[in-house]
Amino acid sequence: MKHRLKQWFAERFDLEQLKGPVQKQLHKPLPKNISWAHTLGSMSLFLFVSQVLTGILLLIYYRPTVNEAFESVKFIMTKSYMGWLYRQIHAWGANLMLIVVFLHMLRTFITGSYKKPRELTWVFGVFLFLLTLVFGFTGYLLPWNQLAYWATTVGTEVAGAIPVLGEWIKTFLRGGFNVGGETLSRFFVVHVIILPWVLFFIVLIHLVLVRIQGIATMDPVGSEKETKPGEGTPFFPNHVLKEGVVFFILLGILITLSILTPFDLGEKADPLTTPLAIKPEWYFLPMYQVIKYFPKLVGIFVVGIGPLFLLAWPLLDKSSNRHPLHRPISMTIGILALLSLLILGTMGYFSESKRHFFGKEYDIDIYGIPHLVSSNANRRPSLFEAEKNKAPAVP
Ligand code: HEM
Repeated sequence: MKHRLKQWFAERFDLEQLKGPVQKQLHKPLPKNISWAHTLGSMSLFLFVSQVLTGILLLIYYRPTVNEAFESVKFIMTKSYMGWLYRQIHAWGANLMLIVVFLHMLRTFITGSYKKPRELTWVFGVFLFLLTLVFGFTGYLLPWNQLAYWATTVGTEVAGAIPVLGEWIKTFLRGGFNVGGETLSRFFVVHVIILPWVLFFIVLIHLVLVRIQGIATMDPVGSEKETKPGEGTPFFPNHVLKEGVVFFILLGILITLSILTPFDLGEKADPLTTPLAIKPEWYFLPMYQVIKYFPKLVGIFVVGIGPLFLLAWPLLDKSSNRHPLHRPISMTIGILALLSLLILGTMGYFSESKRHFFGKEYDIDIYGIPHLVSSNANRRPSLFEAEKNKAPAVP
């Protein structure tokens, strides 16, 4: 069968001409320093493909209107064949994709792979990371539940504080004064059409760059030697096998999480009732926490500078060393940035909630500072409470 198929094509196309470049790519030797962490890029790709496939399945029954969105997701979860599974894989996949893309970025940071000549690979990578975040933000609204509705209201409100263009951006995102049907349509189009295609093309450019320039060695900039055939690790089958192992582990984690800890749909969005504590998704928590500590404008500036800093990083770090132990300044900056994200995220997670520590009840305020419950009389209102007092009701 295989032989006949091959012959069918051979009679129509010059397969010999194709064979050379394919073999060359397949057996391209990778440098000696290639490790398990070098599988994170292809795992990001796998999760993207999984999101596209489960997203297509969701689209069969999903309806992007205020009256039908919530019910259609409920239908998918309760009535459609295996709908609960592909909805959970999509929801968990979104979270895992962010983690894996972030870890991949961290790996390329630690190994100094963003340095000359791979600055552009890094820059396109940063765009991929930001787009993955926008994927999360736009997808979160689509089930049209309470959490999503109010998180989007606050999220778009933040954009409104940007100087000069803020109000325009907010109205543009919402498609009107409030979050409503227009917002849902816009987020839907961005989530299912614009973002997948933009991400696809940027991934393509990213991968072509990686293939053309090869995986970085640990040699300092300017003294990298090309890995010759016979040296290093062959891409096929050695590295592909590693990728296969990590792929099955990730698939196992994805399915286990989807079955054991499914995402709840919650209640349908009600613009007239603000729930007590809603927070953005965990990956926006550090950002959400930062804007609480500063006046709105300064907060937005601080949050906005992060991505710019990431984009410009290959220009800022001019040292030629790649090994992390020979780059004390950039590694210190990286560790401090990572710690800030973790601390701010944790404070954001615990803020505006009541918790028990060592048998005592604490009311954790908007800044993430715990107060014994008896002493919370002067607690500041949360962003959501403030939003509730401000937002006009939607008919
Ligand atoms: C959807 C997201 C992404 C996909 C599918 C992807 C895919 C890949 C793949 C398959 C590789 C080669 C294997 C590897 O090094 O793991 C790679 C390399 C690379 N990626 Fe990504 N990537 C993504 C996001 C990012 C991000 C967010 C960054 C950093 C900001 C980044 C920066 C790089 C760099 C610098 C390399 C070259 C690594 C080296 O030569 O050692 N990528 N990417």
